[in-house]
Amino acid sequence: MHTPDIKDLLLPSASKLKDALALIDKNAQGICFITTTGNKLAGILTDGDIRRCILNGTTLDVSVEKVMQTKFTALPVTTPQDVIQSKLSHEIRHIPLVDEQGAIVDYACFSRMHRTPIMQPLLNGNELAYLSDCIKTGWISSQGAYVKRFEKEFAEYCGAQYPVAVSNGTVALHLALAAFDIKAGDEVIVPDLTFAASINAIIYTGATPVLVDIDRTTWTLSVVDIEKNITSRTKAIMPVHLYGHASHMDEIMALAKKHNLLVIEDAAEAIGGKYKGKHVGGFGDAATFSFFGNKTITTGEGGMVFFKDKKAYEKAIVLRDHGMSKEKKYWHDLVGFNYRMTNMQAAIGCAQLERIDEFVEAKKKLAAFYDKILAETGQFILPPQESWAVNGYWLYTAVLKESATISRDTLMEKMLKNGVETRPAFYPLHQMPPYKNYPTKSTFQNSLYVSAQGISFPSSVNITQEELDNIAHALHAIFQNHHISA
Ligand SMILES: Cc1ncc(COP(=O)(O)O)c(C=O)c1O
Repeated sequence: MHTPDIKDLLLPSASKLKDALALIDKNAQGICFITTTGNKLAGILTDGDIRRCILNGTTLDVSVEKVMQTKFTALPVTTPQDVIQSKLSHEIRHIPLVDEQGAIVDYACFSRMHRTPIMQPLLNGNELAYLSDCIKTGWISSQGAYVKRFEKEFAEYCGAQYPVAVSNGTVALHLALAAFDIKAGDEVIVPDLTFAASINAIIYTGATPVLVDIDRTTWTLSVVDIEKNITSRTKAIMPVHLYGHASHMDEIMALAKKHNLLVIEDAAEAIGGKYKGKHVGGFGDAATFSFFGNKTITTGEGGMVFFKDKKAYEKAIVLRDHGMSKEKKYWHDLVGFNYRMTNMQAAIGCAQLERIDEFVEAKKKLAAFYDKILAETGQFILPPQESWAVNGYWLYTAVLKESATISRDTLMEKMLKNGVETRPAFYPLHQMPPYKNYPTKSTFQNSLYVSAQGISFPSSVNITQEELDNIAHALHAIFQNHHISA
């Protein structure tokens, strides 16, 4: 159940205004239906009505019958869905549904008719045409023109070189580490707050991941903490451009140079993100991307690695294809993998790339919208936006202030009741069973904080104005409600 049941909205007419207030606070719908004997609908009362009563000096002990609205829209429960939907608007957000006797039996509201997903892909460009081309020509595996084209065009977009398209963003990381022969006995520094794929890829190589805290301003690797954790075994640093914001690349590259370390950027979440005017993914010795269905551009499943160095690139090409010699077919010089991207994935990717500027722009606009409505509530710390970076805003994520009037999880529940999916920030890696025994000198206060209070909002590039209005209204109602009852 994602919206409250009808019984959570019903209030007997003998109740007082304060009972209505308590019910509305609980159901988070901003409304209750006043009933008489036999559940007959007598009136409605909204949070706005209650606010007006309070401002007029009406006491909370007044009977709801005295203040309820008696003119309202109600429909027979047998009304077709499309008719009900056509009656819902931002003025009429809830419609009671009544039986033949006038008894209320259900209700309709925007969130019951529709759920705004946290993310969905937009595939209405040339995706289908290019995919059909693969099927018609039979080029459905990893041979075929789209793979090369996708590699070339995405590398051009990012201003990077030596691209290797692979089957997902996790193997992109593993392939990058393997190409540099990272192995057991080596240590790789990785942030505590990231998706598990970052650390898993390190573990696949046999190397030891060393978890390091993030900083409070960018939610990416803390440079001070990296230095604290460098040992004689450290071989690489893996900055993750979390939620689209770039890591401190100059400082990280300087540390890497000083200690002779590799840098592998995990840019899975940062398509379109920039550091000092240049796209992320062009700084480290290697950089990886993901094109999973929820990413800024998608290939369904898919990933890419960029290399700075031709030798590592050539090794990665061999490793991607079972370690098979390029000169002598079916001769294996190395233990490789099958990490190839299919022509069909790349075909979708080429179509997505044609619209990448439009998608990145849409993410920025969405972020500006959220910045505004979240700032109005006064309850959030907005996502990182350093002057030297352009946030790619893959998934708009803010931090609920510790002083906020409700908890992060209650907010998520209430948003869902209003038909809006949200997502908690990642869990700190160091707290989860597979990762908790690795060595570290970090105390993780920042990752603990962002993880506990972080919340992501729907960030699809094709989110509608109506959905945005609903999100704004829901946030407003949730926090206003809370002020009244606090
Ligand atoms: C930071 C980060 N790294 C790596 C990955 C792995 O990518 P994939 O899901 O394509 O394997 C993801 C997300 O999916 C991610 O968010």
